[in-house]
Amino acid sequence: MKLLCLLVAVTAAFALTDAGAQAGESLGRTEYETQCATCHGAGGRGDGPQSRELKLPIPDLGTLAQRHGGSFPTDQVRRVIDGRQDIKGHAGRQMPLWGQRYARAEGAASEAAVQQRVDALTEYLRTLQR
Ligand code: HEC
Repeated sequence: MKLLCLLVAVTAAFALTDAGAQAGESLGRTEYETQCATCHGAGGRGDGPQSRELKLPIPDLGTLAQRHGGSFPTDQVRRVIDGRQDIKGHAGRQMPLWGQRYARAEGAASEAAVQQRVDALTEYLRTLQR
């Protein structure tokens, strides 16, 4: 009986992690399609409709890993999307500071929710690597 309970608990835990991962994946995709594709393009190639209005060329998000020695630069991507740490260094930044926007939208109390969105986006960008 104990063993059965353990088995049920383990299966349930796996199911939850899986559902959690899927929820994160669809959050990342939805967020990307609604907030980012307008500049970066649906496939991340920098060819979204709004890209023509920008002064800077938009980097290809599908070559992030390729441009970093073959491994996806997770922490850097997270920081760039968030943007709050890099305000000084990026005076010419054209991309909105998503961390700041999300913090405003979520309320100051939920830094975890901000991180969750940034992480979901980072994971989605990982899937766009060619
Ligand atoms: C208004 C247009 C615009 C939107 C919307 C936008 N970006 Fe960007 N993004 C840029 C530009 C332009 C750059 C190049 C750096 C700069 O000028 O800020 C960039 C750079 C990046 C980079 C760094 C790429 C590299 O090669 O280092 C990442 C990652 C990124 N954006 C992710 C996102 C994500 C995720 C979203 C949606 C939450 C998003 N961007 C929305 C314009 C945009």
